[in-house]
Amino acid sequence: MTKDNIVQLGSELLRQQAEPITDFASPQFKQLLTDMQQLMEEANGVGIAAPQIGVSRQALIIASRPTSRYPHAPLMAATVICNPRFEVIDATRIKDWEGCLSVPGIRALVPRYRVITVSYQDANGSPCQLTLEDFPARVFQHEFDHLQGLVYLDRVENNADIIAESEYFKRLAG
Ligand code: NI
Repeated sequence: MTKDNIVQLGSELLRQQAEPITDFASPQFKQLLTDMQQLMEEANGVGIAAPQIGVSRQALIIASRPTSRYPHAPLMAATVICNPRFEVIDATRIKDWEGCLSVPGIRALVPRYRVITVSYQDANGSPCQLTLEDFPARVFQHEFDHLQGLVYLDRVENNADIIAESEYFKRLAG
């Protein structure tokens, strides 16, 4: 698989409710995680969801780290999250810039909850909980939306909050 395999906005796959993971021990599931990790790294993403590589299942990876796409992102270990739900801990909604590998060339300001606790199963199917704040909480909420058939543009409150990626990089540099 290459970056060109990332499903782009307009595909029905990005608009479907993803199915739960049940086959944690299967080679297909292990291959899915390998492909997701590889494509996320190749594309300099900080997160990816299974529907973005054409598989409508409830698996996502969050991997906040500084990349060319998000130079100021904090460093955290890549975390595989399956069948997630989350609880809002701090309901303050903060607007910040997001982009998406499935929506190339665009950035937008998106409101997200500041602190959340995620309940999920890890890559082995074991139950886990994780509290996330600020940027990693944002990345999770973005990827979680992909499992519900939503993209970040659906959360934008004002069309004026949508800009070209080239303009976003100018602002970062300025
Ligand atoms: Ni995305």
